[in-house]
Amino acid sequence: MGRRRNRRKLIKNVRLTGIADKGKAVGRDEEGMVIFVEDGVPGDLMDVMTLRKKKGVWQARPETLIEKSPDRTEPFCQHFSNCGGCKWQHLNYESQIKHKHQVTIDAFQRIAKVDIGEVLPILGCEITKFYRNKMVFSFCSKQWIDQEVIDSGVEIDFKPGLGFYRAGAFDKVVDIQECFLQDSVNDKIRNWLRDYAYKNELTFHDPRKHEGMMRNLFLRCNRKGEWMVNIYFHKMEEEVIFPLMKEMQATFLEITSLWYTINPKMNDSTHDLEPIHFGGEKFLLESLDHVQFKISPKSFFQTNTYQAEKLYQIISAFANLEGHENVYDLYTGLGSIALYLANNCKQVVGIEEIEEAIQDAKVNQELNKITNASFYAGDVKDILTPTFAERHGKPDLLITDPPRAGMHEEVVRMLLELESPKIVYISCNPSTQARDIAILKEKYEVLKIQPVDMFPHTHHIENVALLALRNE
Ligand SMILES: C[S@@+](CC[C@H](N)C(=O)[O-])C[C@H]1O[C@@H](n2cnc3c(N)ncnc32)[C@H](O)[C@@H]1O
Repeated sequence: MGRRRNRRKLIKNVRLTGIADKGKAVGRDEEGMVIFVEDGVPGDLMDVMTLRKKKGVWQARPETLIEKSPDRTEPFCQHFSNCGGCKWQHLNYESQIKHKHQVTIDAFQRIAKVDIGEVLPILGCEITKFYRNKMVFSFCSKQWIDQEVIDSGVEIDFKPGLGFYRAGAFDKVVDIQECFLQDSVNDKIRNWLRDYAYKNELTFHDPRKHEGMMRNLFLRCNRKGEWMVNIYFHKMEEEVIFPLMKEMQATFLEITSLWYTINPKMNDSTHDLEPIHFGGEKFLLESLDHVQFKISPKSFFQTNTYQAEKLYQIISAFANLEGHENVYDLYTGLGSIALYLANNCKQVVGIEEIEEAIQDAKVNQELNKITNASFYAGDVKDILTPTFAERHGKPDLLITDPPRAGMHEEVVRMLLELESPKIVYISCNPSTQARDIAILKEKYEVLKIQPVDMFPHTHHIENVALLALRNE
């Protein structure tokens, strides 16, 4: 028997009532079946068109907006309808953080069925635009053009683009002219580079044919207004790369650290590529409260510097160190949390898989004259063993800050074995955090959680949980 096709159907008069895990609005049809609606806002009344049914839930898009939610607001960016960057611009900021707060609680209580002690109010951002310190844009041989524009009959110049891949279209980018996520210097550099590439007839990457010289533009800035730029090219062609880099260096005094990288691979992932230094410093300097950081192109650094400071203050308050503690910092990046806490404990040990980040952690340790920290490169799963714990002493406090996927189950099991009296678990994905904590609850209770908004106008949430070993 062939597969039954999901035929589209119009569902009328759906009242959206909340937000689901990945930021979609949720409503129900007349029979009570759940519908996830892309681009909806809780409070809207709308007719929706179903796209597919997944695990018994309709996925749908708005067809007619009958009644606007009072929480709706006018998006501020010209690229809003196409760019996947800040998809919550049509939801006012107060409602954004209210829903993030609720999604976090739901992940713990309804989905993972974990009891939480105290839920502190979500910490919103004072700065809700231009808050990112890092952006990566893609060059593409084709630009996304709206169907409406094509249908209107106006003459279209089908030029290549530099921006973000359109969701669902792997071979077309939304050409970004103005971006509200990072200081406006990012617009100047990006728009200059696109013009330079047009003028010099440089080819933009074509992901279908896997050809085209220009691939990605990486931009990082600090709060002093210094910029690190790394341009990704498909292959080494000195006669193309060097004049471009020289002209960029001469044009932008803001660029204090200039790099390029050759990426001959089919994909854009960068962890296995080696950036080549072209000019200026090899790092950017940034500080979070009392700690200074040298950040190199491949290091992970919290992307919202202002809110990272607040996040670290919360971690420090949850840690409540007295000076005698042995601290482990798992997924330490360039050692930022470890170094932030080092002055308040006896010793701190950081583990991180990216070798360059660990080199940075050691440089940063020296820069801050910290003598009680040590750092290890490798997968936490392989490094954090009983032998490691014997060598470094059992932790009195364990900090863990894994990527979105959460911790490997073996790492969670190791945490249960280590029995650190306290765990501070930081996560950018409350669902995987709650999943891991559902295993940890065998020995731990959640004393409190503090959601933090690091990414306004997106559905992303950061959450800090304080766990205590139960006395049994
Ligand atoms: C969310 S970041 C946290 C970084 C750091 N704690 C901070 O606040 O800047 C997660 C880090 O985990 C690292 N990572 C990812 N998977 C890992 C693994 N299996 N073992 C060790 N480190 C890993 C990433 O390279 C990244 O630096």
